Formats: sequence, structure tokens, C-alpha cells
Amino acid sequence: MECDVAPVDPQELTVPVSSQFGGQALEVLLTQEQIQQRVAELAEEISHRYQGKCPIFIGVLNGSFIFMADLVRKLDIDFEVDFIKISSYGSETASTGTVRLLKDISANITDREVIIVEDIVDTGLTVKFLRNRMLEAGPTSVAFVTLLLKNEIAILDFSIDYVGFNIPDRFVVGYGLDVDQKLRGLGSLYAFKES
Ligand code: IMP
Repeated sequence: MECDVAPVDPQELTVPVSSQFGGQALEVLLTQEQIQQRVAELAEEISHRYQGKCPIFIGVLNGSFIFMADLVRKLDIDFEVDFIKISSYGSETASTGTVRLLKDISANITDREVIIVEDIVDTGLTVKFLRNRMLEAGPTSVAFVTLLLKNEIAILDFSIDYVGFNIPDRFVVGYGLDVDQKLRGLGSLYAFKES
């Protein structure tokens, strides 16, 4: 069956989207072009650092799946992928303060170079949990790449190795990030307009 729906410019989605989410409008925070350019830069940096190695990229579901897919296709090194599923938000727009492991990795990461791929770091709770979980398995190294660092006040006793963009402390959607599991397919990154 053919799909006869014309492609929609994401910038034009403001009206239909806003009617679904309590009348709140969205505004573009990062365009597709800005995102794609930065993802290419991150892929280049990572390829450079892991030249001659074969790291395993672990995507944090669900939010990182689009970023991960774009990132790995821009690498010029060998790599493997796996996924882990974590819940910290439920259907809310604020962290619940607890992290639950919903799906563990399948790969053996002992003696492997591990790169965790996150969509966004906010409070830092999720990355802390992930780091501890990974270190239990005795990897050679654990690095973090996140497309977005939301909150510069995220309190971490380790650094995030690769950050795509620092963004203001606002709830964002698109490019894999959701509100109540929706809007992940938008190519750009949007924030709900503050009233
Ligand atoms: P943290 O544990 O507080 O750092 O939150 C990380 C997780 O919360 C991310 O992986 C996202 O799933 C989710 N999250 C944080 N901020 C946002 C947002 O603005 N939009 C959508 N999801 C978010």
C-alpha cells in the first residue's frame, strides 16, 4: 500500500502537535541541519579516538535510537551495538528520581571498550546508574556520548566524554525524544513554548 501523505515540514507541526498536548505550542530549538552537522563532528571525534579498536555502542532505549542510528552510520571504525532499557520518567515530564532497569544488555562487555549512547542527560541519575552497571562487568573502558546536556548542574563525579549540545532546562521533544511516548519522529528538536 502506498503512503500518500505528503512529507510535512517539521516547523509546520506546531499547530497539530500543540492541540494534542494541552494546547501547548512547540518551538524549534535545534534544526535537523544543526543536529546532523554536530552528529557528524561527534562521529569524527569518536572514530579518531577509537581508531584500530572495535568499541561496543550501547544505546539507551528508547530515546537514543535515532541519534544512535545516525551516529554509527557516520563512523569509520569497526563497532558493535547493543541496547539497554531504562525508565526514569514514566509518562511525566520530570524525573521520578528512581531508575529502573527494564532490559539489560545481551553482549559480554568484559575487556571491551564501551560507549554508552544517551539522548539527553538531565539530573545525571541515569548515567550514574549505567556507569555502575557497566563497571560491574569489567570493561576496558566506559565512555559516554550524549546528544544533549540539559542541565549544567547535573552532579556527576565523572565527565560525559562527548556532548552534542548544551541546552536550557526545558522539556524537549523530537529526534528520538518523547512526551508520553509521542513525537519521537520529528527531525528537529523542539521545546514546549513557555507561556
Ligand atoms: P536523567 O536521569 O535525569 O539524567 O534523565 C535522563 C532521561 O530522562 C533521558 O534519557 C530521557 O529519557 C529523559 N529526559 C530527560 N529530559 C528530557 C526531555 O526534555 N525530554 C524527553 N525526555 C527527557
